[in-house]
Amino acid sequence: MTQDMECSAQSVIQSTAMDALNGKIACVQAGYYDDRFIQAFSSSMVPQHSILMKRGYTARVYAFEQAVRRFIATFPDSQIISLGAGFDTLAFRLAEANAPMRRYVEVDLPSTVNTKTALMARRRQFVGVVDPSVYEIVSVDLLDPDAPALLAATVDPALPTLFIAECLFAYLPIDATDALLSGLAERFTGTRALMTYDPVNPLDRYGEAMLANLRRFKNIHMPGVVGAPTIEALTARYTRLGFPSVGRTMLNVYDEVIPEAERRRLAHLEFLDEYEEWNLLLGHYCITLSGVDAEGDSAAIHGLLEGEWLVPEKAAPERRRVTPALFDAIRE
Ligand SMILES: C[S@@+](CC[C@H](N)C(=O)[O-])C[C@H]1O[C@@H](n2cnc3c(N)ncnc32)[C@H](O)[C@@H]1O
Repeated sequence: MTQDMECSAQSVIQSTAMDALNGKIACVQAGYYDDRFIQAFSSSMVPQHSILMKRGYTARVYAFEQAVRRFIATFPDSQIISLGAGFDTLAFRLAEANAPMRRYVEVDLPSTVNTKTALMARRRQFVGVVDPSVYEIVSVDLLDPDAPALLAATVDPALPTLFIAECLFAYLPIDATDALLSGLAERFTGTRALMTYDPVNPLDRYGEAMLANLRRFKNIHMPGVVGAPTIEALTARYTRLGFPSVGRTMLNVYDEVIPEAERRRLAHLEFLDEYEEWNLLLGHYCITLSGVDAEGDSAAIHGLLEGEWLVPEKAAPERRRVTPALFDAIRE
């Protein structure tokens, strides 16, 4: 790869942080959930997002917050390491709520880290929110073979640690993610957990079209999705790398993790009638929960979210339909 091509590949990957930021801002602006920090990271108009996308982002944000809060409540002295954190705001929301965490470390590429740090220094929302002995943001290229050692040196690797990778591994080559995870498993010898969110099922017609559109219109390539095409393949891989793993599609997450009353409120915000598209889109994204506690047991980590996480996914995503009748029931 020439230097120019490398730069443009990097800038495409970093633009994904803006995409996630805009998606989350669109949700907050439309009343899907509250986040008083997120808009501080953008000064431009946020592009229109479909109702499907806003509901998908809402389920994703809801799930990460719930799992991280439960991890902190379950394991005293816990550390959170957000890999490819982008402009995510969970650290600030938890700090503001006085969540009793030992450390919260965000990791990203230098230009994203520099932009985020500069904006945080300028915007008054952030004044006095984080304790600098708890929160840190570090520039680490996670493709660097030394990344696991660098991360282990940033925190205490013997303390309970939850790695979150929200829409990161899709962009990394499979062997780089494998090296990162096995390096982390080797160094983090106490309770270690991993929560991921990524596209899945790239081999059916919808999945192929989804990846082809990202390539054609945004020049985004997802080598990590192609190499682990199903939830079963993904969770088997993480398990092999030292993070025993379970996963659910975002359809399951939306239904099981968001409380019914909240789903009802969301259903009244904006009218959705694209049931087929809803099933397809959310059936092509998944969350995994992986890891072991200090005794080598995975149950507490697999139980960080509501729902049937310990039961392997039985139905193919296309068959796990949210029917119009169910939608109507939710909208009642
Ligand atoms: C889709 S964004 C997700 C951002 C954030 N996790 C969220 O969900 O809002 C992917 C993030 O991964 C970061 N990233 C991609 N490759 C990386 C690498 N090799 N090392 C560190 N960060 C990386 C990008 O800069 C970007 O911020």
